[in-house]
Amino acid sequence: MKALVLSGGAGTRLRPITHTSAKQLVPVANKAVLFYGLESIAAAGITDVGMIVGDTAAEIQEAVGDGSKFGLEITYIPQERPLGLAHAVLIAQDYLGDDDFVMYLGDNFIVGGITGLVDEFRTHRPDAQILLTRVPDPRAFGVAELDPQGQVISLEEKPENPKSDLALVGVYLFTSAIHEAVRSIEPSWRGELEITHAIQHLIDVHSDVRSTVIQGYWKDTGNVADMLEVNRRVLETMNRRIDGEVDDKSETVGRVIVEEGARIVGSRVVGPVIIGAGTLVSDSYVGPFTSIAENCRITDSEVEFSIVLRNSSIDGVGRIESSLIGRHVEVTPAPNVPSAHRLVLGDHSKVQIHT
Ligand code: DAU
Repeated sequence: MKALVLSGGAGTRLRPITHTSAKQLVPVANKAVLFYGLESIAAAGITDVGMIVGDTAAEIQEAVGDGSKFGLEITYIPQERPLGLAHAVLIAQDYLGDDDFVMYLGDNFIVGGITGLVDEFRTHRPDAQILLTRVPDPRAFGVAELDPQGQVISLEEKPENPKSDLALVGVYLFTSAIHEAVRSIEPSWRGELEITHAIQHLIDVHSDVRSTVIQGYWKDTGNVADMLEVNRRVLETMNRRIDGEVDDKSETVGRVIVEEGARIVGSRVVGPVIIGAGTLVSDSYVGPFTSIAENCRITDSEVEFSIVLRNSSIDGVGRIESSLIGRHVEVTPAPNVPSAHRLVLGDHSKVQIHT
């Protein structure tokens, strides 16, 4: 069995901070979302991985390499443009051959991994197996309609009037039957070859399409609230580990990870929190559910329930909460006079300001 991991996509799908970076590399608890996916693929006993890459190929390749650090053998498959999930299958056909495969969307996060699902698929080998989860607003997803026995009757991509609250999760298991299906479909209204349509084609020709409803948390990490939530969930599962320096005047409480080379000086850190290598936290408070990446400086400030990406500094600004701060960002206090906000904000930024 192989895996096909989708890490393509282009700048037209801008979301917070991804204009500077591939969204699959956005860190959760200081580790790229994509890495959790690759680890769960390896844990399921799969070693051969085809990785679809697009505009951000260089960045992905630099981060993932040949896959050996995950125990994987990765073959990169460039996709000219993000022409759809089924298009990704189409261009990977030579690589996949007749093998069964798991297709994994690189920006999805499945709590508990995929080992159980892969084992179940290996046992029963339906033509396709999809994962579903209940969501409050299914309109941003592929949506499944099931009959009372739980058989999939229909699938729709981002419907205006969803027939259920069961959204397609970005992990799909396929036999080679999917190849004929992706060749049979036409681009959708959004100009993409939709995997949803290819699976619908399998249903239409009476192939065996099964579904599993999963409870485990998962999200496309495209929005800040979701990112903070998944970050919180992952931090909650981590064990305390102090490899860096904590001085006598500092206190670390609970699940706190201080990576080697990080320094905590005159500060209070209340977990779950992770502080990346080379980061300095001085005369500050870092509160629960916060991930501070490598080489940051937090001085004279309070940060809680937030994600700070690498090489950023927060200096003397009071309290920051529920925030996502990108790379190489400087947050500093404003002079009292003139009373004005001075901002340099990237595309699609969101700022809340006291008026
Ligand atoms: O996240 C689950 C959802 O993923 C499903 O509910 C939908 O049915 C499915 O169509 C998909 O929806 P999105 O529109 O949110 O997918 P997105 O365009 O964000 O792409 C998902 C991943 O696949 C992302 O890591 C980028 C990558 N990708 C996407 C396209 C369209 C590629 O590598 N190539 C592509 O052509």
